[in-house]
Amino acid sequence: MQPSFYVRDVPVYGDVILAPMDGISDMPFRILCRAYGSAMSYTEFTNAAGILHGADRVMRMLDYDPSEKPAMTFQIYDADEDRIVAAAEKIEALKPDIIDLNMGCSVPGVSGRGAGAGLLRDPDKIGRIFNRLTKAVKVPVTGKIRLGWDQESKNYKTVAKVLEDNGASLIAVHGRTRCMAYGGNADWSAIAEIKQTVKIPVIGNGDVKTPGDIAKIKAQTGCDAVMIGRAAIGNPWIFQRKNREEITLDDVVTMMRRHLKLMLDYYGIAGLTLFRKHAVRYINGVYGASELRHALVRCETPEQFEEIVGQAQAQNE
Ligand SMILES: Cc1cc2nc3c(=O)[nH]c(=O)nc-3n(C[C@H](O)[C@H](O)[C@H](O)COP(=O)(O)O)c2cc1C
Repeated sequence: MQPSFYVRDVPVYGDVILAPMDGISDMPFRILCRAYGSAMSYTEFTNAAGILHGADRVMRMLDYDPSEKPAMTFQIYDADEDRIVAAAEKIEALKPDIIDLNMGCSVPGVSGRGAGAGLLRDPDKIGRIFNRLTKAVKVPVTGKIRLGWDQESKNYKTVAKVLEDNGASLIAVHGRTRCMAYGGNADWSAIAEIKQTVKIPVIGNGDVKTPGDIAKIKAQTGCDAVMIGRAAIGNPWIFQRKNREEITLDDVVTMMRRHLKLMLDYYGIAGLTLFRKHAVRYINGVYGASELRHALVRCETPEQFEEIVGQAQAQNE
């Protein structure tokens, strides 16, 4: 199989990618999405200060499975240049294929202190960070951005050029500003402008909900790959370019069993509680979803889970 594109020297096989999502894109969910066709793996964003402290909770977010290679990407965030570089140097020892800097997080506690999308207000600083990062580590360094801080300060073309000029190997673009958070619509035409501006690969992201949207964003932007966040939750079939309408209750139950097993194997019994937020999304649109949801969020043992999904299947026959 030919790679779809390269992140410098790292081959990427495929053009649809699970987005980094804090609290969602942990190792179990990434393994599942990879098995269904996600072409890269991004960790949830990890705080550079936490990495330098060696905080267990943060270091655990950097666990990955061999099936996630190539293109296993560690994402970090911070506002402090020295900490970002030192954290990247430290985690390179864990052998990721790629290190990514988050410049897209809109949450006030992050962007308000100059990290995440807060970095977009200072393209010179982004340039300095990438200049240092790309010299400090051997693996390719990439960036995930938004279009700018707000409507009045959209500087995505400047930022994209600064990234390329300072050694970045790929740019992922969420087509919204920081101030839009998740409101309004993602602007795919801005992603097309970025693709025209730089030679390095560009990943388009924002509001891709169906296989039809994957084709549309590719055609409209010319992007090298498409990143999917919210529409992948409870829906790894999207990486096979399958519409949700094609998925049967049996498919849903099989997927939930597989996902829950991955979570129990990784987290122990705590995995069952963590699985709830996925479970409610898997059953979206399923016949009898509200009763099923009610039962699943109260379920306390794997045996109870089996009983609940078994009953749902029996009722569906
Ligand atoms: C719950 C949640 C957590 C997120 N966490 C991260 C993160 O850790 N790092 C990051 O770069 N983006 C994060 N994002 C943004 C997504 O990667 C993506 O850019 C955004 O959701 C838009 O894509 P979508 O329309 O396909 O959801 C998060 C989004 C959501 C909904």
